[in-house]
Amino acid sequence: MDRMKFLEAEFVQGFIRMAKDGWEQGWHERNGGNLSYRVKEDEVALVEENFDRKEWQPIGTAVPKLARQYFLVTGSGKFFRNVAIKTEDSICMIELDDKGENYRIVWGLAGGGRPTSELPSHLMNHEVKMRVTNGKYRVIYHAHPANIIALTFVLPLNDAVFTRELWEMATECPVVFPGGIGVVPWMVPGGREIAVETSKLMERYDVAVWAHHGLFAAGEDFDLTFGLMHTVEKSAEILVKVLSMQQGKRQTIKVEEFRDLAKAFGGELPEEFLYEKEE
Ligand code: 13P
Ligand code: ZN
Repeated sequence: MDRMKFLEAEFVQGFIRMAKDGWEQGWHERNGGNLSYRVKEDEVALVEENFDRKEWQPIGTAVPKLARQYFLVTGSGKFFRNVAIKTEDSICMIELDDKGENYRIVWGLAGGGRPTSELPSHLMNHEVKMRVTNGKYRVIYHAHPANIIALTFVLPLNDAVFTRELWEMATECPVVFPGGIGVVPWMVPGGREIAVETSKLMERYDVAVWAHHGLFAAGEDFDLTFGLMHTVEKSAEILVKVLSMQQGKRQTIKVEEFRDLAKAFGGELPEEFLYEKEE
């Protein structure tokens, strides 16, 4: 592969497109949300000649399994709206040290700044996902979609309830996130504590709600991760509409129908989410 200008690389273009799509969905008011991509070795080689390595900085947590890996990430306080317009000022590529405790910027944030304040959550989630998917997952995405946030004020903050209610709102949901969805109660964002709680959920789920704040999604590539965020938020929107029209649902997908669906798609749905409900 020929070496190339940083912005021309396909993975950089994919990152930019995803940020633009998220902005257009209305999920990124001001600097809300952040995105990270674990860059492949051959992709690093492709753009390396553009690097200007800055000094090491503490990550704020330890991710030893990610030692020496490179990530493309949005900057703290940077607007998703600007990622496509002022890319070099809005995002950066970072390299981790050989302990996974420090990072340094190798490209981007041209006007100064640092990677997202949620870097501990992104990296701890990457570390878990890299392990449980044998290196397949590369994208972690945090957004502030209004409908899923609204539901954290009216549903109990419980994995089983969020999973089941969202599954019921669109037939594709159990197919797109058959593992379910985790819920983190309200916590102070931007630090190690919320990162630890979120990464525990990422052992099992691809998507985790932050109560009264937003959503974290993990996936193999930009399309699948964006698609997951989109599917969860769409389902939340339908639930918000239904709950705004009348109390409760007149009818919905039944437990037996979820089992039929799982069979038809050759998968399994955890029984704990198929509990009997009181009418
Ligand atoms: P950053 O601007 O630091 O990425 O923070 C935005 C955000 O959504 C915090 O949760
Ligand atoms: Zn946020």
